[in-house]
Amino acid sequence: MSHPSPDRDQVLAALDAVIDPKSGQGLAAAGLVQGLTVAAADDGVRAGFVMEVPARETAVYAPVRDAAEAALRALPGVARVSVVLTAEAVQKPRFKTAGLSPQAVHQIRPNAPVPTERPAHVRRVLAIASGKGGVGKSTVAVNLAAALAARGLSVGVLDADVYGPSLPTMTGVSGKPEYRDDRMEPHLAHGLKVMSVGLLTEKTDAMVWRGPMASQAITQMLTQTRWGTEAEPLDILVVDLPPGTGDVQLTLIQKTPLDGAVIVTTPQEVALADARRAHTLFQKVKVPTLGLIENMSGDVFGRGGGEAEAGRLGVPFLGDLPLDAALRQAGDAGTPLVAAEPDGDTARRFAVVAARVADVLGV
Ligand SMILES: Nc1ncnc2c1ncn2[C@@H]1O[C@H](COP(=O)(O)OP(=O)(O)OP(=O)(O)O)[C@@H](O)[C@H]1O
Ligand SMILES: [Mg+2]
Repeated sequence: MSHPSPDRDQVLAALDAVIDPKSGQGLAAAGLVQGLTVAAADDGVRAGFVMEVPARETAVYAPVRDAAEAALRALPGVARVSVVLTAEAVQKPRFKTAGLSPQAVHQIRPNAPVPTERPAHVRRVLAIASGKGGVGKSTVAVNLAAALAARGLSVGVLDADVYGPSLPTMTGVSGKPEYRDDRMEPHLAHGLKVMSVGLLTEKTDAMVWRGPMASQAITQMLTQTRWGTEAEPLDILVVDLPPGTGDVQLTLIQKTPLDGAVIVTTPQEVALADARRAHTLFQKVKVPTLGLIENMSGDVFGRGGGEAEAGRLGVPFLGDLPLDAALRQAGDAGTPLVAAEPDGDTARRFAVVAARVADVLGV
């Protein structure tokens, strides 16, 4: 099979023929082409990039994104095209803007409940949350963790979803964790350290937790797992929280020393209302919401609700993830898609989110 396939320079030239309405320059010259991917696949070249614009201007840039996609599609040999329009962070947590050291994060949350215990040798703890079940929170947790690891960070994932722990399946780990020197050893999979409430019990499907039990189990996994050592601390621990915004969730986030949260939503209005509630919950305990991810966007559910909602909440929109059977299959097979296809479209989208999260958390 020989396609006439464009190289990066040709792709950039095509994008420079699309004019940025603000600067009057071509898109590449205007610095609006980020994370450009030009990858050969069986059916032709897949081309895509991320266009990051000020939150207030996403509407202005929607037609520009469409024009960029059309320009890429018009190149001979290009089979698949994706241009992701994301809003720049409107606000960063105070510790960044205040110029404090990242270590000072916990000292500047007035009224925040004092965390019971910070896990040893863990630099940052990030929660992945959703107001509603089944929106792809666990999928985002493992793939974001893999994207953070791809940046060279030391990353752990903690499955705190007492209602339906799914990280063992999604990362392909099983078996009770080993105890050594009073600590549980996390499983290692795809470069990630994995611990799940599902590994601590025999029958994960029959688990019914009440609030105190649930938070005790999670505190235990958080503080008694050997996430890092003095010599090699864990850079970031990604915590997959149980869905919902009830008492169990509130207790958990009060007891877990969180540095930030990412909220996952689907475009449906009902999920969005729940995303709002999740954001409110984090505001209550002074944990900064680092942004919103819209999952399963596309024909079925519509698109853009997440972005609009992020704007209303005043939190950054971190991007959208299309409904994609490959994402589900990879999860079912125990390998996060980001790890299975590090050069794919999904990996590229998560790389953008990972870059933002790493930047804001200072890792
Ligand atoms: N973008 C996507 N495209 C296709 N399938 C997806 C996508 N995101 C998630 N899925 C699939 O949808 C199902 C639910 O996703 P996931 O388990 O990540 O959601 P969750 O919010 O963690 O759910 P729960 O509330 O049960 O914990 C899974 O089978 C997953 O593989
Ligand atoms: Mg889940």
